[in-house]
Amino acid sequence: MTLGDGKAEELLACLERARTAAAEAVAAAEHLATLEAVRVRFLGRSGEITQVLRSLGQVETDRRPEVGRLANEARAEVERLIAERASRLEEVELDRRLEGEWVDITLPGTVPPPGAYHPLTLTLAEIERIFVSMGFEVAEGPEVETDWYNFQALNIPRDHPARDMQASFYLTGDILLRTQTSPVQVRYMRANTPRLPVKIIAPGRVYRRDDDATHSPVFHQVEGLLVDRGVTMGDLKGVLDLFAREVFGPRTRTRFRPSYFPFTEPSAEVDVSCTICGGSGCRTCKGTGWLEILGAGMVHPQVLRNGGYDPEEVSGFAFGLGIERVAMLRYGIGDIRLLYAGDVRFLRQFAPAGEGGVTE
Ligand code: PHE
Repeated sequence: MTLGDGKAEELLACLERARTAAAEAVAAAEHLATLEAVRVRFLGRSGEITQVLRSLGQVETDRRPEVGRLANEARAEVERLIAERASRLEEVELDRRLEGEWVDITLPGTVPPPGAYHPLTLTLAEIERIFVSMGFEVAEGPEVETDWYNFQALNIPRDHPARDMQASFYLTGDILLRTQTSPVQVRYMRANTPRLPVKIIAPGRVYRRDDDATHSPVFHQVEGLLVDRGVTMGDLKGVLDLFAREVFGPRTRTRFRPSYFPFTEPSAEVDVSCTICGGSGCRTCKGTGWLEILGAGMVHPQVLRNGGYDPEEVSGFAFGLGIERVAMLRYGIGDIRLLYAGDVRFLRQFAPAGEGGVTE
């Protein structure tokens, strides 16, 4: 027998021993971890069967294919045994877990905490309720507006100093984020002429380059517009009086002060008696007893014309109201930025009574 012959026989003997030992070890493994150790012992990088395959080069050439085939078969067989045993052990392990664990199906589920409406949403809903009850319709316009609708159609030409009161965010030379909801006046009239009456409120976001405790670069207004035959300033006063009493309480009084807006004539700033002190003077009203809440006036004849209506035939009033201002007065909020900070400690105070409110 040559040395080479000896090597073939020696390897076949090794293989046979390894196969038997592997089969026994697999059958004896009670845990997946033990099974893995068995795999490493026989099939790992220096495992017993792997060693046989590595030594094939030392076998004499004519016996090499036979020894190689047997070694590969042995490896495949051990792999199969391990895989079968593994799935069996997994089943056993799952059964054991299921026996040990139980689920109490009578436990209450996880209840998602109820949210709360934002104070601005609550305030707008209240404002809409009041005007809808007086027969106003809710209309909308775009937040990205043309210079014409935002300014020119409202009697504010390009060089008009009134533009300074509304520092603007321009997107192009001719397109900007609207600085007021007043452009909806002309948009709505043009879309509806010659229908009468025009009787709308138009709530929405507006944008100005302002930022302090009482001014935010994004805020909300509600525009009001009533156009019909024979509308007078008395109608404006009646509507706003009723509105003020509904929002701020039945004892609220209003006061009209002369003012100026290019798109109304005459124009007024409207104050309500102070919601905190009732009119005697306090910190909130700076001792005056009055709080300014909106701008208003009779629609300028040129604005009616721009909207496609004839100022000889019809007249109208308009007003513009800041929703933040009303919300801050209604709820006693001292800093406008609280409305946008998203702080749940602030927001949960507006949850309906009896509910938990928003949670973190
Ligand atoms: N648009 C005006 C502003 O933002 C308010 C206003 C609206 C005044 C309608 C008169 C009539 O200041």
